[in-house]
Amino acid sequence: MILVFLGAPGCGKGTIAKIFEEKLNFCHISTGDLIRNAISSNKELGEMLKQIISNGNLVSDEIVLKLLNEKLKDCSSNLILDGFPRNLLQAQKLDEMIKIDKVVYIDTPYDIIKERLVGRRTCENCGKVYNLDIYNSNTCSCGGKLVQREDDTPHIIEKRFKVYEKETMPLVQYYQNQGKLLKVESNSSSNDTFKNILNMLEVK
Ligand code: AP5
Ligand code: MG
Repeated sequence: MILVFLGAPGCGKGTIAKIFEEKLNFCHISTGDLIRNAISSNKELGEMLKQIISNGNLVSDEIVLKLLNEKLKDCSSNLILDGFPRNLLQAQKLDEMIKIDKVVYIDTPYDIIKERLVGRRTCENCGKVYNLDIYNSNTCSCGGKLVQREDDTPHIIEKRFKVYEKETMPLVQYYQNQGKLLKVESNSSSNDTFKNILNMLEVK
């Protein structure tokens, strides 16, 4: 099954995709993670990408498509795309590349998103994501240090949300027109949201 997780920054795309990965063996591709990896591994390109994402803007379609195409080679049938597509052009390109089964639109109010993002911490070592709301420590279960993402400051969160509304929100209608959109509210725990998605997908 090929799924797209669509939703605003902080709605829980990555957290829920990780549950699919752990429990159902899905291959999880986050274009945000691919970009952050490119920043760490490629000095020249990395500096330019860092500037873009730390200001809350979108990276160019060309670069994102190149990173995605490389990563797709590692994945087979069960796949979740998290954070891609993010604009109409990317959605059209994706339709030429792959047949998507369903698009899970995780709808979350802005005030909840903002709180979640300000409290998010990520392990420097293994990449595990936490929230200060339920995990009040500076150390990951693997012993790594927990850090805040540079784009998780109130000002940049607001910017990312504006970019989301302008560039990504039109995809809700795009996939609705294709009859692929499943909408889920994510006001409850990530495990409950996971179960709601499974029910909607009719996965036993
Ligand atoms: P990306 O990394 O994709 O960021 P994003 O879309 O802004 O989404 P986030 O990762 O911030 O949120 P999420 O929905 O994954 O939430 P999470 O599960 O972590 O992209 C970063 C940047 O890269 C972009 O701004 C852009 O510059 C660039 N980029 C990426 N893709 C691109 C593309 N296709 N084209 C161009 N540029 C691109 O959860 C957030 C927090 O909430 C966590 O602390 C978590 O523990 C907590 N939480 C999650 N769910 C729940 C719940 N149900 N209840 C309570 N807490 C919860
Ligand atoms: Mg994410």
